[in-house]
Amino acid sequence: MSKMLEKLIKALKEDPDSFVSGETLAELSGITRAGIWKQINQLREMGYEIESSSRKGYRLLGTPDLHPFEISEALATSRFGREIFFRTEVDSTNRWAKRLAAEGAAEGTLVLAETQTQGRGRLGRSWASAPGKGLWFSMILRPKISSAKLAGMTILTAVSMAQAINDVTGIQPLIKWPNDLVFDGRKMAGILAEVNGEADLVNYLIIGLGLNVNHIEPDFPEELRSIATSLRMISGSQLPRRPILQEFLRIFEGNYQNLATTGLAEIIKYAKAHSATLGKTVRINQGYHRILTGEAVDLDYDGSLWLKEPSGELVHVYAGEILENA
Ligand code: BTN
Repeated sequence: MSKMLEKLIKALKEDPDSFVSGETLAELSGITRAGIWKQINQLREMGYEIESSSRKGYRLLGTPDLHPFEISEALATSRFGREIFFRTEVDSTNRWAKRLAAEGAAEGTLVLAETQTQGRGRLGRSWASAPGKGLWFSMILRPKISSAKLAGMTILTAVSMAQAINDVTGIQPLIKWPNDLVFDGRKMAGILAEVNGEADLVNYLIIGLGLNVNHIEPDFPEELRSIATSLRMISGSQLPRRPILQEFLRIFEGNYQNLATTGLAEIIKYAKAHSATLGKTVRINQGYHRILTGEAVDLDYDGSLWLKEPSGELVHVYAGEILENA
């Protein structure tokens, strides 16, 4: 966004209920009144709702929920979301973030879109990203940890989002191991982490998160309707996405910074207290036709799961996908 447009928005925001005359805006920005008209139209194209009256001037009625300028404005972070790449439509924010990371984008860079045409889920699945209905974003990280410790990063992400949702909406999502957010057994968010590095050195890590916010049932593809949910379906009302994203970035940054000093202890404590998995009998798909069955008894300090098999033996599970709660 140009400095000129930023100035105009700031002027329109100063007194949100009243009109600002074309003359005042022209004076502020040093362009003609006809020029102002053009700039106002540009803002409208970006999603700003601006009422105009030939006598009174311009009045701001609404701001675009996910415009980078609006996200930055009340952002309480020092690194995360300080650089934002936004498009109305993209193939996949994870894919775009990977390209940016390979070109050297800094840690904390946020990549976000209103819709994805090829949103990707775990295990090669696709991820439905209805336009304007959810938060579809990826973050670029350059953690100085070994690949072995990366598993903890997705739990940290899931916990940070659960905390942000709870802070902003009062809804308490549960964490389905390893990193889905669910409510009443239906999925509301998923995380896809992809790492680039060699042996024990992480070059960059992309963490993608999809959160269903304003879907109603028909917004989901047919096969997801009985298993997916959204914050709107839970709360009964439409919600702005921006405050959730801003709160998530604030909490995530704090949790991520604490990793170096306090490790994952607090994160695991939260994940245990708000778990959809512990205490249940589960079947876990580990790929390559390997399926484990047992009772999910505990989370370990690194986020791995302790499973009690029917024989009574305790096994440590580091990765997998819960097929169903039996
Ligand atoms: C899963 O539960 O299978 C993970 C879903 C991850 C979806 C998000 S949406 C934003 C980011 N970009 C992608 O292509 N996928 C992730």
